[in-house]
Amino acid sequence: MVKEFFKRSWKYYLIGIIALMAVDVAQLIVPRIMGLAIDKVEYFTKIRDEATMMKGITLFVLWIIALATGVFLGRFVWRLMIIGSARRFERYALRILFEKLLYLDPAFFSKYSRGELMSRFTNDVRAVWRMLAGGVVISTDATFMGIMTIVMMGKFVSWRLTWIVIIPLLFITVIVLLFGKTIHKTFAQVQESFSQLSGFTEESISAVRIIKGFSAMGKFEDMFNDKAWTNLKARMKLVLISGIFWPLIAFIGRSSSFLSLYFGGKMTISGGISIGDFVSFNTYLGMLVWPMTAIGWVVNIIQQGTASLKRINEVLKAQPMVKEKDDAVEIQSIKDVKISNLNFCYPDDDRIVLEDINLDISEGQFVGIVGTVGSGKSTLAKLVLKLFPVERGRIHINGIDINDIKGSSIRKKVAYVPQEGFLFSDTIYRNVTLGESYSEEEVKNALKLAGILDEIEKLPQGIYTKVGERGLTLSGGQRQRVMIARALIRKADLYIFDDCLSAVDPETEEEIINSLRTTMKDKTLVVITHRLKVLQTADVIYVLDKGKIVERGTHEKLMGKKGLYYDMFVRQTAMEN
Ligand SMILES: Nc1ncnc2c1ncn2[C@@H]1O[C@H](COP(=O)(O)OP(=O)(O)OP(=O)(O)O)[C@@H](O)[C@H]1O
Ligand SMILES: [Mg+2]
Repeated sequence: MVKEFFKRSWKYYLIGIIALMAVDVAQLIVPRIMGLAIDKVEYFTKIRDEATMMKGITLFVLWIIALATGVFLGRFVWRLMIIGSARRFERYALRILFEKLLYLDPAFFSKYSRGELMSRFTNDVRAVWRMLAGGVVISTDATFMGIMTIVMMGKFVSWRLTWIVIIPLLFITVIVLLFGKTIHKTFAQVQESFSQLSGFTEESISAVRIIKGFSAMGKFEDMFNDKAWTNLKARMKLVLISGIFWPLIAFIGRSSSFLSLYFGGKMTISGGISIGDFVSFNTYLGMLVWPMTAIGWVVNIIQQGTASLKRINEVLKAQPMVKEKDDAVEIQSIKDVKISNLNFCYPDDDRIVLEDINLDISEGQFVGIVGTVGSGKSTLAKLVLKLFPVERGRIHINGIDINDIKGSSIRKKVAYVPQEGFLFSDTIYRNVTLGESYSEEEVKNALKLAGILDEIEKLPQGIYTKVGERGLTLSGGQRQRVMIARALIRKADLYIFDDCLSAVDPETEEEIINSLRTTMKDKTLVVITHRLKVLQTADVIYVLDKGKIVERGTHEKLMGKKGLYYDMFVRQTAMEN
């Protein structure tokens, strides 16, 4: 990822680095000029010639102004080039991460939590950004500045003096390397505990009604305090470490100055170097503290950045569980689905979820799937959508093995309403169209079919009403029907409703299913439900128990059998009366 990025932006980096070095050179010249100026002033005080003095000083001033302007321009250019490019990298990284996430299959998301993925987007991208911006700038600048400063000190003043004063500065690099690790580790703790805290807060706000409903406020306050305390502890640790670290660096920097004052002073007095040399030497020395600190610091930035890059690449390299063959065919329509002797376990899980399933769905049929809780009904729907890998020869669509069909072409022809739906914080219109260009008419039609248009038209802005975060302004049953409309508007051949009317009253559920049957006679409809009454007109009903199909047939046939279906039906009607 970084390689591709550099292929495109190396030119900007090159210009930036050149500008950076130019700034350094200009900055290096300044103390030298100051030194020369001081010596000149000393000389002027001796000759006392007003005119030459003014001329000489003006020249120095002009030099310094020119250099300062150059430094200003150079800094502007390198910031624009290097920091700007790194910002572009950030956007690029976020984009490819997001795209990757959209195309990964559900198995991936059961491996990583939402928080973990979000931290890839925030902390890790930021760490790589820091490496490509600050890391590049600091390492170039510190190395170049460090070497050049030492050369200037040695060449123009005295090599012997230079080596003496540099010794303590080497300790700075060592200390930064040692402290840097701890500082970064503590910093990571701060970030981690903060994201725990904000994640907890977010979840609590979404669930505030549940918390109040169960009078669990005290308990949640305690949990919040715990997390806030962990965060504070990490932050205090950071304050403590930085509190020792920075003054220590300053102290060592000072000790170099002591050495310079003592030995340099002696040399000046004995006439080894001029006063001007001595002044510029000390200015250079001050300039050396930064590169020595920076070299240690940049090692940490690079370590952090490469670790984060690895974590980002882990996501980018994730392979879809369902491997698609290159020569997989695209189907244009779905006529029938045939499942034969299918066994299934979820990836990385050895519990058998489906066992020896045989099931047929023919074009235009109304198929019901019922069964006990956790018996594998939703799993069955997900397998038909090719969301999880299945063995060859088990599921056929139009007579073609599902492994030979492009998954996207199946999903285009299936309108699937999952058991756990989601509404975006957006208008009802956008929640139904999901950004595609359906007309208002089409949206209204879909909402009407889903049996909710009347209720929505009563809302202040009709279908353009915004539903709050997670659709809080709608009731559970209303939300379910908006999600059904979202499926109905797509022209599909096969409609799969996974228990998606559970929050609607039984009469309305029956009404909706019946009206769908009349308007979409030629379409295939699979209804997974716990309410058996809805399926009385179904062509065939499959009854699942613990991953197996235990009964199959029409309502009448199953009632006659007096088995599991009969028991469930009798219990339900008894409850209604
Ligand atoms: N992603 C998953 N990874 C591992 N196991 C899973 C996963 N999803 C579901 N299961 C397990 O598979 C079994 C069947 O689940 P499934 O959701 O298909 O049941 P269901 O019949 O739809 O139940 P319900 O009536 O409650 O909707 C359950 O034991 C469940 O724990
Ligand atoms: Mg289910």
